[in-house]
Amino acid sequence: MKPVKVGLLGLGTVGGGTVNVLKRNAEEISRRAGRGIEITHAAARDLSRPRICDTAGIKLTTHPMDVVNDPEVEIIVELIGGDGLAKELVEKAIANGKHVVTANKALIAKHGNEIFQAAQAKGVMVAFEAAVAGGIPIIKAIREGLAGNEIQWLAGIINGTGNFILTEMKDKGRDFVDVLKEAQALGYAEADPTFDVEGIDAAHKLTILASIAFGIPLQFDAAYTEGITKITRDDVNYAEALGYRIKHLGISRRTDKGIELRVHPTLIPERRLIANVDGVMNAVLVMGDAVGPTLYYGAGAGAEPTASAVVADLVDVVRALTSDPENRVPHLAFQADALSDLPILKMDDIETAYYLRMQAADEPGVMAKVTTILGGQGISIEALIQKEPVDKSTDVSVIMLTHRVQEARMNQAIASIEALPSIHGAVTRIRMEALDAN
Ligand code: NDP
Ligand code: HSE
Repeated sequence: MKPVKVGLLGLGTVGGGTVNVLKRNAEEISRRAGRGIEITHAAARDLSRPRICDTAGIKLTTHPMDVVNDPEVEIIVELIGGDGLAKELVEKAIANGKHVVTANKALIAKHGNEIFQAAQAKGVMVAFEAAVAGGIPIIKAIREGLAGNEIQWLAGIINGTGNFILTEMKDKGRDFVDVLKEAQALGYAEADPTFDVEGIDAAHKLTILASIAFGIPLQFDAAYTEGITKITRDDVNYAEALGYRIKHLGISRRTDKGIELRVHPTLIPERRLIANVDGVMNAVLVMGDAVGPTLYYGAGAGAEPTASAVVADLVDVVRALTSDPENRVPHLAFQADALSDLPILKMDDIETAYYLRMQAADEPGVMAKVTTILGGQGISIEALIQKEPVDKSTDVSVIMLTHRVQEARMNQAIASIEALPSIHGAVTRIRMEALDAN
């Protein structure tokens, strides 16, 4: 049988990695897919740029729409990124009856509902394993491997750049900006790296994970997003002293009232495996009612780890080329007409434990006032550290861990504490999760 002809849009980090993996492992891939998979056409912005891959034998163009419209091409691999041109190209590919593979989480999280609807109407597949957690086959694991479970919650380190920055800062005392530059040079960061450090990229990925875990439509606009730029070395050290690590987590949980969908720095017990996931590595912890906790670990970004997921999708698409569209695995794991309308909860309604740090005047009675405010909101304290001032003129740092409470109550308590004359400046609040079986 003739090889399947693939059109590649983008020859950057992931595009280049995809060409290399497809070439190097051509024989193994063909034995798995039942046919060879050949990149025959590719598009990039600047064809004179040096590439990490050999493009000999590939028809190159600076016009990606020409690749999408070429009747010879059966599958389009979109690796340009963003949701402008990439959206037009994917929509046109679907309209042309071509299957699509993409690593573009922004596109899927924001426009996936319409894209999957169009794909279903045309009987084509849109595969997006590489969009979440780089090389970890997390989409397949949740969508297929855990299909017998009611998923209760999932929590993940799902941005490689952010985890790389936090790890280098904690372990080597490196400067934030300097580590971010290295992550960009290594090809880990998004075209706009604020997507990585402000949690937007993680929120795109979490939106996708929540949809396939809970069978809800993609609702990126309802996700709560908080980045890592305000984490201080003091907070990292105090957390460690209390037996915790600070990780930038995406968390989604099914509750009686709706679905939590939130990305923020989080204290987690240092004994959890996920607390020890460092550098560009990602990990996703998924709790199913039947299987219990399962943990998926691997490289979250980079050329070949991401290409691994892109190529796996290509193999899936090639295997399905001759199958009846009605009998394929649904894009969002659940049948399109069986999605649930469970609402996404507002942050005020989520419930979690908290780490609080405040600067207090070194005088009697301050702690009593703070604990009275917390008690008034039904918040109990699990641990407390008070760091004595270096000299008599400075404040004391007070660090508290609280039990679980509704976020709205914590917001009110923090506002009242910050209004006390003996508390100086803003109260730092970092949410905490036990990530245990409950
Ligand atoms: P790069 O910036 O490295 O590559 C983007 C490619 O798209 C480049 O080859 C660029 O051409 C090409 N391109 C951009 N605009 C045009 C245009 N108008 N016409 C033709 N070609 C164009 O990005 P990545 O490879 O890092 O990311 C690609 C996608 O994969 C994104 O959606 C990203 O979020 C996702 N992703 C990235 C991961 C990573 O580790 N980097 C991991 C997982 C997902 P040229 O090279 O000539 O500029
Ligand atoms: N910028 C992303 C990250 C790429 O660092 O995780 C992988 O999706």
